[in-house]
Parts: sequence; C-alpha cells; structure tokens
Amino acid sequence: MLKPNHNWSPESWQRRPALQQPVYRDPAALGRVLQEVARLPPIVVSWEIDRLREELAAAQRGERFILQGGDCAEGFEDCESDTIARKLKILLQMSLVLLHGLRRPVTCVARMAGQYAKPRSADSETREGLSLPCYRGAIVNRAAFTAPDREPDPQLLLRGYERAALTLNFVRALVDGGFADLHHPEYWDLGFMQHAELRDAYQRIVDSISDSLHFFEALSGGPIHETTQTRFYASHEGLHLHYEQAQTRYLPRRGRWYNLSTHMPWIGMRTSDPAGAHVEFFRGIANPIAVKVGSGMPAELPLELIRILNPDDEPGRLTLIHRFGAGRIGELLPPMIEAVRRSGSTVLWICDPMHGNTETTPQGIKTRRFDNILAELEAAFRIHEEAGSVLGGVHFELTGDDVTECVGGARGLSEQELARAYRTSVDPRLNYEQALELAMLIARHRQTAA
Ligand code: PEP
Ligand code: CO
Repeated sequence: MLKPNHNWSPESWQRRPALQQPVYRDPAALGRVLQEVARLPPIVVSWEIDRLREELAAAQRGERFILQGGDCAEGFEDCESDTIARKLKILLQMSLVLLHGLRRPVTCVARMAGQYAKPRSADSETREGLSLPCYRGAIVNRAAFTAPDREPDPQLLLRGYERAALTLNFVRALVDGGFADLHHPEYWDLGFMQHAELRDAYQRIVDSISDSLHFFEALSGGPIHETTQTRFYASHEGLHLHYEQAQTRYLPRRGRWYNLSTHMPWIGMRTSDPAGAHVEFFRGIANPIAVKVGSGMPAELPLELIRILNPDDEPGRLTLIHRFGAGRIGELLPPMIEAVRRSGSTVLWICDPMHGNTETTPQGIKTRRFDNILAELEAAFRIHEEAGSVLGGVHFELTGDDVTECVGGARGLSEQELARAYRTSVDPRLNYEQALELAMLIARHRQTAA
C-alpha cells in the first residue's frame, strides 16, 4: 500500500489541475511574498495538531463531540478584539450546552484565524456591462467592484498570515486566562440574548453544570482541571494552495510534513476531485483533514478519497463533512455510510446543515431557513444511529453578533427583516441567538432520543 507521502512533495500538487486558484499578474511578486510567508514562524504547532487528531479519533468512537463553526468568510476587519471574543463566547456557550445534553466532552474547531479564501461558482462577475474577476476572499483580492480592487494582490497573503496569527494569539490568551473554563460560565454573559425562554434554559444548564462540578470537587477534594477546559482549535478551507504550501514544513523529529497554517484544513466540495491538486496536496500532510461531501457526488467517491487520503486507516485522520440539504439527506446519506462501511475504513462523520440549505428570496437575498438547518441535523443523527454509525460533530456558519442573515428561530426572523443587519460577505450565518438555540435543540432532542 502507498504511504501517504509516497512520491509526494509540498509542490507536487502543481503538476495536477488546480481549481479555484487566483491568477496573479506578476508571478515574481507572488514568489517573493511566498518566500516571506515560508520564513515566518508557524501559526500553530505540531503537538497541538497531534492532540487534535487524538480528539477527533475519540469523536469517531463516540466518546467526544466536535463543534466546528464560524464565519463563511472572515474579513480582515474581523480581526478586532470584541468580534473575536464574541465569536469565542458563542462557540463556548454552544459547547457547554452540547456537553450537558450529549454527556460527552466537546472540542471546538473554529472556522477562524485563516478562513480567508473562498471558492466561487464563476471566475468573473459582470455588472452593467463591466466584467471583473470575482471576489475570492480577503487573502486574494478586495470585494469592491473596481478593477484595482478585484486584481489578485500577493501582499494580501502576508496580511492574511498576520491577521490569522493576531487572531489566534488573542484566542489563546483568552483561553489560557480562564475564558474557556467551565468554572467561570459567568464570563460568557448572554449579551443581546433577548428571548426569555432561551435565557432561562441556558441558565439552568449553567447551574446544573456548576452544581455537578462542585459536587465532584467536594468528593475529590480539589479542582477538576482536565475535563473542565474546553479545547479550542483553528480550521479553514485549504483552498489557496500556494499559501498552504508556504506554511508546510518537514519536522525531522516526527518524520512528517505538517501544514502549520491551521490545525485542521479541509477540502471544499468544488475541489475534492481525487485527481485534482487539492487532494494531492492534502495527501502528504500529517494534519487531521476533512473533505466536504454532498449531492451531485457519486456515493462511491468517498472510497477513492479514503484510499488516497487515509490508506493506513489512521484514527482521527479523515473527516467527511456531509452537506446534502434537508430535502436530500434521507436519500443520499445512507448509501454513503454503507459504502464507507463496506470499505472497512473508519472516518469521522460531521454534518454541515448549512451549505445544502442555501436559497435566494424573491428580493434576491441569499438566506437559509432555521427549520431546514434543524431538520437536516435531526435527520443526520437519526440516519447515523439507524445505520449503527456515529455522528461525531456538527459544522455551522455562525457569528457572535446580532445579524439578520438566516430566517426563523425562536424570534421568527422574517424575510422582510433580513435587510436590517445583513453583513456577511459570502454565505448567510446563524446569529448569536439562533446559534445558541440550535445547540439547545440538538441537546434536547438527543436527551429525549437517548
Ligand atoms: C464553505 O464551507 O463555506 C463552503 C464553500 O462549503 P462547500 O465546499 O461545502 O460548498
Ligand atoms: Co459558506
């Protein structure tokens, strides 16, 4: 059997068709920037990556649960202390609710500190007869519709590297300072949560966890540390292969190549061709990796991906994030689970109930319905259970802010209200209340199902 890095090098992807890559006008300028990114210190380190792989392996066995979430696309302006703290807070609040409901430790994998490159369905955009390159995310070009803004600029790769490092630096400081400690849920006040029932339900969960902690600490005579700290990691779509390559280093002590731009990079739906450049690049890195899978893909495709990306069936190495949509999951997920089972390999299954449920309102606004998101999640739990498989995590696009991008939820956000605070640069995100409500509904639903 081929070893993961057989005939592989950090640049071997360049011999394959690479979709979704920007075209730079001045390749020499790109080369200089990449050299600089390659020389700068890593954003994450290998022992964190290895620890995450172990936690993902535990989730695969049903002993842990993964909460992956954050913006569809981060902007450089999101690198700001309040925005970062609010995003961290909503993820921690959701993980607390999930821990309580699922009775499993939770690992948070944020879509954060590097989620700067976006796949697009077309290369160019035309407005009033003018065609310009599409906006491809903050490390590639700028969103404003002018020729200079849309020109891919290599300097943005450096700015993105810096913003990712600044973001993660602040997250680490907050986590180390006790922000993620279950002893201090009071750090995570409910901000602009206005829905009284949700507020009360959340408070009951916090009280119940505090009581249990005090009970066990009284019994054991000291603070319980190990399990009371939520584990927090970074992830992004590993789309811009020159950038990912520049951060990939050989670590002689471990004898493997690590992509040190993030803990867990993933391959998006549009770049998951087994013969393509992304799969080739991901094959050789030691990180735990994920691939998005969805409708339009043959049920057998995951088998090919498993063979290439995890030939040794290493636990925690490969996650399949399925995103079929509420209407299609019932038909498409069972044969995929069955195909993977027949292969004899194991993967971690995560459900992304966002990307298969995107729609456009009659006013032309891209949105998602809370009810469809919840329906897909409930179907995912049920289908895995019926198949004797494990749903080990969930993947959301969300924000810690009071935006109006998805319709529905406890306060019944309507299509007419979307315009009030619609701020996403790409896909619609759950707002703070909707995100917490969803965590509560999963937890409640699981408790009644158990
Ligand atoms: C995304 O996660 O923002 C995304 C583009 O997803 P997908 O690759 O599943 O379409
Ligand atoms: Co998205």
